[in-house]
Amino acid sequence: MAESTEDAAPPGVLPGALPVQLEDVARRLFGDGLGLARRYAELLATEGLTRGLLGPREADRIWDRHLVNSVVLSEVVAEGAHVVDVGSGAGLPGIPLALARPDLRVVLLEPMLRRTTFLTEVVEELGLGARVQVVRGRAPESVADLPFTPDHVTARAVAPLDRLVSWTMPLMRRSGVLLALRGSTAADEIIATASEVTRLAGGPAELLTVGADTGEPVTVVRVERRLDVPIEPTRPRRRRKGAH
Ligand SMILES: C[S@@+](CC[C@H](N)C(=O)[O-])C[C@H]1O[C@@H](n2cnc3c(N)ncnc32)[C@H](O)[C@@H]1O
Repeated sequence: MAESTEDAAPPGVLPGALPVQLEDVARRLFGDGLGLARRYAELLATEGLTRGLLGPREADRIWDRHLVNSVVLSEVVAEGAHVVDVGSGAGLPGIPLALARPDLRVVLLEPMLRRTTFLTEVVEELGLGARVQVVRGRAPESVADLPFTPDHVTARAVAPLDRLVSWTMPLMRRSGVLLALRGSTAADEIIATASEVTRLAGGPAELLTVGADTGEPVTVVRVERRLDVPIEPTRPRRRRKGAH
């Protein structure tokens, strides 16, 4: 358990505890979901760390670097949207979004069994099963396994923008919008990949800033699916031997 490692929280501080300086921000962003967000942070800081789903240095950055950094995406997610979080890993940004926004339906799409096992446990423990579903699979091959056609596809730290567009546009069979949390090089990435994004049925990529009032603004790249550009059907990929 995390308590017995050098990454354990300092004495008197519970693993994943909400830092005092983020209390107001977290209360505002999560609203009534804050209690469950606290429990999710604890699960990340204990099981998430011991099972290797987050790096050992993340122990004391769970709130700022993961929960707050993810939940601010809510600013650009439409009311009542159906969301597929591609490459959800330990549930980011999909779980924080679902906790802050009871109006959303969310699929956590993730190929690695170790991660989907954790995600399934988290969804059950947080009582989110009625509107959050874990699907083990990859974009775009798993399009047929999704329970709905998404209005939004979200992704954080999954792949370079052009690859992300090639994986996610086929998931949005009707109109839809990719919302990708990106780093400081997002503007350059948009320029470098513009023609490829267009070829892959993406509209012009837009650069958005969310979470400006948290003190840690986050860059989002927004790409709308163009329905006038055909997408080749995706062939199922064979699972790699030993993938877990
Ligand atoms: C670096 S992790 C990021 C996890 C999480 N989004 C986060 O921000 O902490 C990238 C994740 O993408 C998943 N992944 C890689 N290729 C994928 C694909 N084609 N479709 C869905 N998930 C994929 C990996 O298994 C991994 O869990």
